[in-house]
Amino acid sequence: MSAFFEVQGLSKSFGGIHAVKNLSLTVDEGKILGIAGPNGSGKSTFFNIVTKVPFGADKGTALLQGRNILTMKPHEIARNGVARTFQRENVFASLSAIDNVLVTTENARTARGFTDNVKAAEEALELADFPATLHNTPAGALPVFLRKLVMIASALALKPKVLLLDEPASSLTPHEIARIQSLILKLKGAGMTILLIEHVLPLLTAVSDRLAVLNQGELIANGLPDEVIANPLVVEAYLGKKQ
Ligand SMILES: Nc1ncnc2c1ncn2[C@@H]1O[C@H](COP(=O)(O)OP(=O)(O)O)[C@@H](O)[C@H]1O
Ligand SMILES: [Mg+2]
Repeated sequence: MSAFFEVQGLSKSFGGIHAVKNLSLTVDEGKILGIAGPNGSGKSTFFNIVTKVPFGADKGTALLQGRNILTMKPHEIARNGVARTFQRENVFASLSAIDNVLVTTENARTARGFTDNVKAAEEALELADFPATLHNTPAGALPVFLRKLVMIASALALKPKVLLLDEPASSLTPHEIARIQSLILKLKGAGMTILLIEHVLPLLTAVSDRLAVLNQGELIANGLPDEVIANPLVVEAYLGKKQ
């Protein structure tokens, strides 16, 4: 039986740079796979090529419940249950928080049978712990933490089976990071399967069921978080080789 979500032999090059090289990973249903690695190790490129936003892979497959999603168009991948957030808060600054999420629900409606877009957007914002009193505030006027929640809510509005979060804790205070941690665990509790790229290692190790580490586009470790962060190859990738 195939895994719930599985990538096999994914590769992407930019000129001479192998941003992602022959990457294979599996994630079980309802689990969190943490993804770590130094800057430039290919983490965001992995999310880009799995969602085809903004570009696809050179080689490889990504199977959701046994179906290769990489033969689909980007919007079909999203409708079929793989949604992502971005490392930078990718919101429409002049649109209100709820209108940002409505952009997603409008686009998803036909495929997923939404009858009431506004209700779907409100539910997504609530699931993302976004304050109800700020639904009509322009996203550009919100602090970074709330802009991140709007972006997460937009992904949640697709009712994803697999949620890809790219550094949700970056630029946040310790208190806000704790709130992101609770939110991620709440989403897991709701049955979502999550891939989490994160530099904040305490958050990553606290929530991840398994942890994968990339270095120069290649998977160098994959296993239980405590074992992986003690792996000499991982220590070397982060801190440099001992002289
Ligand atoms: N659109 C692009 N064009 C050219 N090079 C890119 C592009 N996106 C990423 N890269 C390169 O691919 C490598 C991996 O980048 P990225 O996936 O963003 O790393 P990470 O998210 O782990 O910091 C880096 O060397 C980066 O410069
Ligand atoms: Mg990145």
